Amino acid sequence: MAPRSAPPPSLPSEPIHLRAAGVGLVLDPTGGTLPRVLHWGADLGPLAPEELWDLRLARAPQPIGFSVDGPVEPAVLPEQSAGWLGTPGLVGNRGGRDFSTAFAVREATVTVPEASPGTPHHSAGGEAGGRVTVLAHDQEAALELELTIELTASGLVRQRATVVNRGPSPFAVDAVHLTLPVPSVATELLDFTGHHLRERGPQRTAFTQGLRMRENRTGRTGYDSAYLLAAGTEGFGNRSGEVWAVHTAWSGNHRTFAERTFHSVSLLGSGELLLSGEVELAPGESYTSPWQYGSYGRGLDEVSARFHRWLRSRPHHPSSPRPVTLNTWEAVYFDHDLERLRALADAAAAVGAERFVLDDGWFGSRRDDRRGLGDWYVSHEVWPDGLGPLTDHVTGLGMQFGLWVEPEMINEDSDLARAHPDWIMATGGRLPGAARHQQVLDLARPEAFAYILERLDELLTAYPISYLKWDHNRDLVEAGHRPTGRAGVHGQTLAVYRLMDELRRRHPGVEIESCSSGGGRVDLEILQRTDRVWVSDCIDALERQRIQRWTNVLIPLELMGTHVGSDTAHTTGRRHPIDFRAGTALFGHFGIEWDLTAASPKDLARLGEWVALHKELRGLLHTGTAVHADHPDPACRLHGVVAEDGSEAVYALVATASSELYPPGPVRLPGLDPEAVYHVRPQAPGDLPDGNAHHWGAHLPWWTPEGVRLPGRVLDSAGLQAPVLYPERLVLLRATRV
Ligand code: DGJ
Repeated sequence: MAPRSAPPPSLPSEPIHLRAAGVGLVLDPTGGTLPRVLHWGADLGPLAPEELWDLRLARAPQPIGFSVDGPVEPAVLPEQSAGWLGTPGLVGNRGGRDFSTAFAVREATVTVPEASPGTPHHSAGGEAGGRVTVLAHDQEAALELELTIELTASGLVRQRATVVNRGPSPFAVDAVHLTLPVPSVATELLDFTGHHLRERGPQRTAFTQGLRMRENRTGRTGYDSAYLLAAGTEGFGNRSGEVWAVHTAWSGNHRTFAERTFHSVSLLGSGELLLSGEVELAPGESYTSPWQYGSYGRGLDEVSARFHRWLRSRPHHPSSPRPVTLNTWEAVYFDHDLERLRALADAAAAVGAERFVLDDGWFGSRRDDRRGLGDWYVSHEVWPDGLGPLTDHVTGLGMQFGLWVEPEMINEDSDLARAHPDWIMATGGRLPGAARHQQVLDLARPEAFAYILERLDELLTAYPISYLKWDHNRDLVEAGHRPTGRAGVHGQTLAVYRLMDELRRRHPGVEIESCSSGGGRVDLEILQRTDRVWVSDCIDALERQRIQRWTNVLIPLELMGTHVGSDTAHTTGRRHPIDFRAGTALFGHFGIEWDLTAASPKDLARLGEWVALHKELRGLLHTGTAVHADHPDPACRLHGVVAEDGSEAVYALVATASSELYPPGPVRLPGLDPEAVYHVRPQAPGDLPDGNAHHWGAHLPWWTPEGVRLPGRVLDSAGLQAPVLYPERLVLLRATRV
């Protein structure tokens, strides 16, 4: 098929083919309309220009009648003018006009990484990925559009759009949606839902015709947002099936959707969810959408590995060993007492903690959760000599000091609210209903932004604070920006990003943890400026097994805060032995959230062993590839981490409930080098299966320090007999290449 018309000289004259890490992306920017994705999925290998044209011909749909004449081929930003009658790419208007666009591409440039300079774009350097920038305009609507589409070195596709108003009057932007097509073999969908204490629960549905729209209007990333929306072949699992998944990298309102039409088009899409009238572009102004990320893989583990590798390639990705952290929240809550906290710091240091984080309650009138937010001055009442006596003690013990803040929030009972009641986000004169007794501080107001920046800057300057736990504890409800009366979630989200960016600029070494009533703000845009996410306020190890598994579908372990709590979980009342709690926290950025001054000497000694193991393994855990077996027994999970070079691995075998099987039968160890031989044995201190049959006289033959020596391919196919475990227990296996 020839191009529909001769392209302007700055337009590629043939489809663009990018390849990276086993993924292929073929874009068709020819013919002057917005680019369409001819292929996103498995690497197609090198293709000559004539083959790319034939691919375009082979993928061109047959025109059908009764809707529009001509084939329906939605672009990455789909338009009605191209015959697409599904979810539109750009929704907006200029005083009721220009509601539909027909963008014409003016320029498309392809940049490939330096490793392959001068390589023709049709082959894009083999396997280095690249970036495509497309400039388009709609003269009649007086709009410009810039699309950036990248294939990263890890094989992730990411794209975003900027709309510029070139007209003489305001243009209202209601939505900008970007899409990626998936093939019809993707018949099942997986996405996530959740709530406080139970984040990121998976849910599966059939990918039927119509629209599955996951919307989040909570003003933060949200528990009940898609997180990841994956489409895959029937029965796709952790290690099997083909999977295409998108993530919307945005910490405010957003939507993520899967749409399938009777035109045989299936696509995944996403964008910011803009409230009515929220974005109106004055002449010359622009709106930029969130980044949309797409990951293709054979099985979910491969989808995850692309995200993990990309996050690890960020310039600010933590390169120092992740310090074992003690957080004071579940140890003392609001009871801030210097002597008590010094004793806690002593106990933390004694078990090997390297960072001590003082949680909520240190400032203003904040003796409980009803008051004080916004008054970011150290409380004279509980800290008469400031935080110095505690920070000196903590740093004197060789630990880093971290501090909790919640900069975007304000209590009506605070000096700040009394001085500036109009800084509270609201609709007109009506305040939103309080949540956890608090309101939202409008950071899009320059004076409120300046106040918070000054307060945090001063604290970071005055004290040796190397870490901020940045919390955000309510949804944004009726969150208006009072100076204009418009909805303010978009502006608030951007202001928070600016605030974090500026603080990081002023205090380059400071790390930030993203917390939002537990794990309510976990997304790839907040992670552009943070170093850890608080996975959940629920540190019940059983719940954590599931929450951490699914947080890990997007986020690598070193960015996931995982803490050992007290023996009775504060949020569920369940009791678990320390090995189950610590063996669960091992797979993450390990921490402790437990009043160690009240722990038994036996538990403290055992905790010390787990801390030591985490320190021994964190190099592997925090750089290796996460693997999750597809084990048929719902009561048994096997997950682990394999070193990038295949030299070693550690696995956890977890009994999440009682099993129908007794003994449980073999488990497979995925991810090892198939040809290498591994020494596999139990790993202490997680080597004592409480429920092992040897308690009744029978012994699992290979469960000895000698273990077994077998090739990776055998371990991943024949597997190993799993020990009998009590429910809610785990054991660790270590594999070392011999
Ligand atoms: C909610 C967080 O998720 C908790 O970890 C703790 O920091 C509290 N806020 C403090 O108010």
